[in-house]
Amino acid sequence: MFKKLAGGFAVIAAGLFWSGWAMAQTTIVGSAHDFQSAGTAWVTTDQICIVCHAPHNNANAAGEMLWNRGVTTATFTNYSSSSMSSNPTDPAGTSVLCLSCHDGTIAIDSYGNLTGANSLGTGDPAYVGFDLSNDHPISFTYPTTGQDPEIKPSSSTITVGPLTGQTIANALLDGGEIQCQSCHDVHNTNTDGPSLLAIRVSGSDLCLTCHSK
Ligand code: HEC
Ligand code: HEC
Ligand code: HEC
Ligand code: HEC
Repeated sequence: MFKKLAGGFAVIAAGLFWSGWAMAQTTIVGSAHDFQSAGTAWVTTDQICIVCHAPHNNANAAGEMLWNRGVTTATFTNYSSSSMSSNPTDPAGTSVLCLSCHDGTIAIDSYGNLTGANSLGTGDPAYVGFDLSNDHPISFTYPTTGQDPEIKPSSSTITVGPLTGQTIANALLDGGEIQCQSCHDVHNTNTDGPSLLAIRVSGSDLCLTCHSK
């Protein structure tokens, strides 16, 4: 038992040494998604998870993700580009969950059976809205190298930040698709820089993880 533990620490220590900078694990506590302590006190509960998930009787009839909130029914303008091999669809998968707050249609304090009033508005830095045509494309299947030779294979290993050693497919894709969670970590677990980014954008490390440029 002790040996196992010691081994684990050795691996962590080696990881820290190798990366050359502190990569203490981060958590949702005190992050932008800890809604009582975020810049604005969005909710009155001190339970962090309950605003998005409930272990029982959650508000989403489908039950997926134990989601304790409504989901957006807004119409979005998607990214489109003739130079892409991929074809982004309407927001799907976990992106719908993000946009349910970030499009401003559902108040943060509307969870469970509560009806609140604190929504993200056009003036908030975190407001994304309905026009996704000037945002990085989401909600499409990650292309193969045959389809797009300048996109790294989804089996490629990440070489920077806390996700080092994991594949793009496991760590960044949502059922093989690009979604908001391909770049952001909603729980701020192992984030690497500001804006809840899973891989830091300084030096464009995030972009170069998938794009061969
Ligand atoms: C702001 C909303 C939000 C809050 C608050 C939140 N989550 Fe999540 N959670 C999500 C979304 C969106 C997903 C799906 C996307 C993903 O996995 O990144 C998810 C996925 C999950 C999953 C399944 C996938 C995984 O990452 O393991 C677990 C387990 C989970 N959350 C637990 C928690 C716990 C425990 C808390 C509180 C400490 C919490 N979440 C707080 C939004 C939230
Ligand atoms: C329950 C509503 C809710 C959900 C669900 C939600 N967010 Fe947020 N998010 C917010 C609010 C509110 C803020 C702004 C908090 C503040 O600054 O006061 C925020 C902030 C952020 C920020 C800015 C972080 C920073 O440090 O400035 C990012 C990035 C973000 N969210 C991405 C996501 C992604 C990606 C998802 C889905 C995987 C998601 N959010 C799901 C409500 C939500
Ligand atoms: C290809 C990567 C990528 C994808 C996909 C992506 N984002 Fe981002 N996002 C970023 C980067 C990088 C930043 C930081 C921009 C900057 O620093 O100028 C950012 C910034 C943000 C911010 C503003 C944070 C702040 O502090 O002002 C929010 C909110 C956000 N993203 C939400 C989302 C949501 C919701 C989705 C899905 C609909 C999404 N993002 C998809 C890379 C991405
Ligand atoms: C998780 C992988 C991933 C990350 C991270 C990522 N991208 Fe992408 N990006 C893609 C994929 C896949 C496409 C679609 C490529 C295609 O189908 O031709 C794409 C499309 C694009 C396009 C559209 C190209 C066109 O022809 O219209 C641009 C520009 C772009 N990404 C830039 C960026 C930038 C800048 C960053 C960093 C902030 C980034 N990407 C991060 C995977 C990623």
